[in-house]
Amino acid sequence: MKKEYEVTPYEVKGEVDYEKLIKEFGVERINDKLIERIEKHTGDLNILLKRRVFFAHRDLNWLLDEYEKGNKFFIYTGRASSKGSKVHIGHLMPWIMCKWLQDKFDAEMWFQFPDEEKFLYKPELTLKDTEEATYEDMLDVIALGFNTKKTFFIIDTQHANLLYREACRVAKKITFSTVKSSFGFTESNNIGSIFYTSMQAVLAFLPSVLKGKNIPCVIPLGIDQDPHFRISRDVMPKIGHYKPAIMHNVFLPPLTGMGGKMAASSNKDAAIFTTDSPSEVKRKINKYAFSGGRDTLEEHRKLGGNPDIDISFQYLKMMFEPDDKKLARIETDYRSGKLLSGELKAILIEKINTFLKEHQEKREKAKLIIDKFIFKG
Ligand code: TRP
Repeated sequence: MKKEYEVTPYEVKGEVDYEKLIKEFGVERINDKLIERIEKHTGDLNILLKRRVFFAHRDLNWLLDEYEKGNKFFIYTGRASSKGSKVHIGHLMPWIMCKWLQDKFDAEMWFQFPDEEKFLYKPELTLKDTEEATYEDMLDVIALGFNTKKTFFIIDTQHANLLYREACRVAKKITFSTVKSSFGFTESNNIGSIFYTSMQAVLAFLPSVLKGKNIPCVIPLGIDQDPHFRISRDVMPKIGHYKPAIMHNVFLPPLTGMGGKMAASSNKDAAIFTTDSPSEVKRKINKYAFSGGRDTLEEHRKLGGNPDIDISFQYLKMMFEPDDKKLARIETDYRSGKLLSGELKAILIEKINTFLKEHQEKREKAKLIIDKFIFKG
C-alpha cells in the first residue's frame, strides 16, 4: 500500500503521521521521564519542549549521562539557504531550541550554512544566489541572541578546507544505494547531491577533530533532516567518533491547515516570514489562517470552536503563548464559543507582531556583528 505522506530532506508531502514516522525512522519519543531529567538541569522548560513540539530523539539519555559525568556537549544545526525561500517562523523552532540549550548548558553552538546544498538540488539556482541568501539567513540566526564567543558559523564553500578531508572519510563508508533509498534519489541525480550528506555529517564531529578529543554533540532539527544522520551516525564510530544525539521537532503547519509543513517556496501566503511587516502578518492570518470556528456567529456561540484544527490556536500552543494558564483559558473559551475566531486571530497577530518587532530590530543590528560569528580557524 502506498503511504499517504512522504518525509525526506528534499520532500515533505501529504498529511504527516508522526506516530508512524517514529517507527519508520526508528527514533524514540521524548517522554515525561526524559523531560524531567532535562528539567533537573535546566530549572525550567522551553515552550517547545513543554508542548512537545520537540517530540522525538536519538540518544538524549546518553548525552545527559555524559554531561552528568562532566563531559560537556556542543550543539549543532544548520540551514541551507536558497533564493526565493526566506526564513519563516517554522524555521526558527530548532534554532530557538539551540539558543535555549546554549544558555542552559553553557554549550558551544556550531551552525552550518551549506551554501552548495540548494545549488546542487535546484537547477535554477546559481552559487551567487545561495551565497547572498546565506547572508540574509545568518541575520535571522544571530537575531535569536546566540553567544558571540561560543557560536561558530561554518559556510561550506568558504570552509571547504576544514570540511572536505573529514567529508571524504564519511563518504567512503556510504554507498550510492544507501543514499538512493534514503533520499529517494535516482540514477539521474547529479553526483554533487549524492556526496552532500557527508558534508552535513562533518559538523557533528568537527569540533572533536579541531580539539583533538571526542566531544558529545546534540543536533536539534526538523524531523525531515533525520535521514542525513540516520545514515551518517552509523559511520561515525567507524571513523573514531561518537554518534551525535538528535532532537526532532514536528513541522509548524502552514497557515492553510494542519498536517503538513510550512514551506517558503510553494505558497507565500501560507507562511509568515521573519521580515513580514505587521500589516502583512495581519492580512495573512486574517485571510488564510485555517479556522476551527463555526460558519455563523450563532452556531459558534452555541456549539463552540475546535482548537485542535485551528491554526491560530496551534501557533499559540506551539510557539507564541508560553503561559499555560493563559493558553488553557483561550482553549476553554474557544471550545465553549465565548471566544470567536476573529478574536483568537487577533491574539495571535498581536503575539507574532510583538515577537517580530524585536526580532527585526535585532536582525538589523546583526549586520554589524556578522563577522564575529564566522569561524576563523
Ligand atoms: N540540510 C539542511 C537544510 O536543508 C541544512 C543543514 C545543514 C542542517 N546541517 C544541518 C539541518 C544540521 C539540521 C542539522 O536546511
